[in-house]
Amino acid sequence: MTLLHFPHGFLWGTATSSHQVEGDDANTDWWAFERVPGNIHDGSNADRACEWWRGRAEEDLDRAAELGTNAIRISLSWARLEPEDGRFDHASFDRYRQLLAHARARGLSPCVTLHHFTLPRWLVRDGGLLGKKLVPRFARFCARAGTELGAHVERWVTINEPNVLAFMSYFGKAWPPARGSAIDGGRALVALARMHAAGYGALKEATPETPVGLVLNVPDFVAARDNAVDRAAAKAQDAAFTGWWLSALRDGWLRPPLAMPPRHVARFAKSSDFLGVNYYGRYRVRFDPRSGATLFGRAETDRSIRTAHNDWGDVAPDGLTRQLRRVHHALGVPLVVTENGVMDAEDSLRRSYLVSHVRAVHEAIAKGADVRGYFVWSLLDNFEWAEGFEARFGLFALDPLTQIRTKRPSADLYAEICRHNGVTT
Ligand code: FCB
Repeated sequence: MTLLHFPHGFLWGTATSSHQVEGDDANTDWWAFERVPGNIHDGSNADRACEWWRGRAEEDLDRAAELGTNAIRISLSWARLEPEDGRFDHASFDRYRQLLAHARARGLSPCVTLHHFTLPRWLVRDGGLLGKKLVPRFARFCARAGTELGAHVERWVTINEPNVLAFMSYFGKAWPPARGSAIDGGRALVALARMHAAGYGALKEATPETPVGLVLNVPDFVAARDNAVDRAAAKAQDAAFTGWWLSALRDGWLRPPLAMPPRHVARFAKSSDFLGVNYYGRYRVRFDPRSGATLFGRAETDRSIRTAHNDWGDVAPDGLTRQLRRVHHALGVPLVVTENGVMDAEDSLRRSYLVSHVRAVHEAIAKGADVRGYFVWSLLDNFEWAEGFEARFGLFALDPLTQIRTKRPSADLYAEICRHNGVTT
């Protein structure tokens, strides 16, 4: 057994997002969505979530620090910080400032996301992602967050997984505003790209020294069978989900058929000082003439991690190595694994999942990818969007009723990885 060492200063962290942990986030589109029976599969909502807004954030940040992590990924609730168009809430900025200061005092380098799926309700009334004033409003929010909180932030993320959001909320109907329309899906993708470019510019102006990046979800799509049609279907899904963003980040062009007509977004090319890679698993894609909406591909994931409604794919650590190397070659910027983890209430898979994926990151680095950090999704069980509390990704288990946290064995294993800045072979 040898120790695979990571570069000096490598970030070992855990990831969370505002709506999933804070609770009392009633000005968001999700709050309204959660009131409609059937939208959240286990009937729960995020009213309390992990009670970070009722004062429990600090103790969880302490838990993260006690594991020996040196970084934390959180997000800001735009709805909380700007509860009405143009009116910013000072008390909420103060609270985030406290949290960030607490994290830093405990040696956790903050990586802060500006948009992690939720939108303010006032903005949704104005068309949400499809509204006319979205882009300048997001830029204004980023500028304000940059000025108010920039001194405490070591890495900004403009938008989390715009590719997932467009597919869940606009092409599909699983998340708000549940449009289920290919035309709206394409428009949402264009809007998200323009939002990112504007947010990047605003943050760079407010905090020129702080790296700003975009986070993409980058699953490994492969052909289910070794034949031309499955290969074509896998390639089409990958292109729509990931390739579209990577080529746009290279040259600023949003390409058809997702953007019709093709469109150049000013300042989109090279608008990521680093790329955040969220990776969960692999989808084996089989050609299916009846699956027009998913580009004639149907995912087969019989060994996958899933609930009745959502599927994070087959466990495939080599897919993470592949994708990190691919993104490195495509963009040539530093990479951070901003999310990786597994839904596993029993904690029976998580240890081997974490070890194999950390090794996969090491292999990508050994093969030339410039990976600067790795964040486990998630520090603790939290409100998993339409899955409610059914999908349990935490290093700490949470009982949402009693709010009792219990450390899972995999947390100790992750602590060892952090302590050694490495993993054994
Ligand atoms: C990602 C999201 C994150 C969490 C994990 C399980 O797609 O960014 O908020 O829900 O999946």
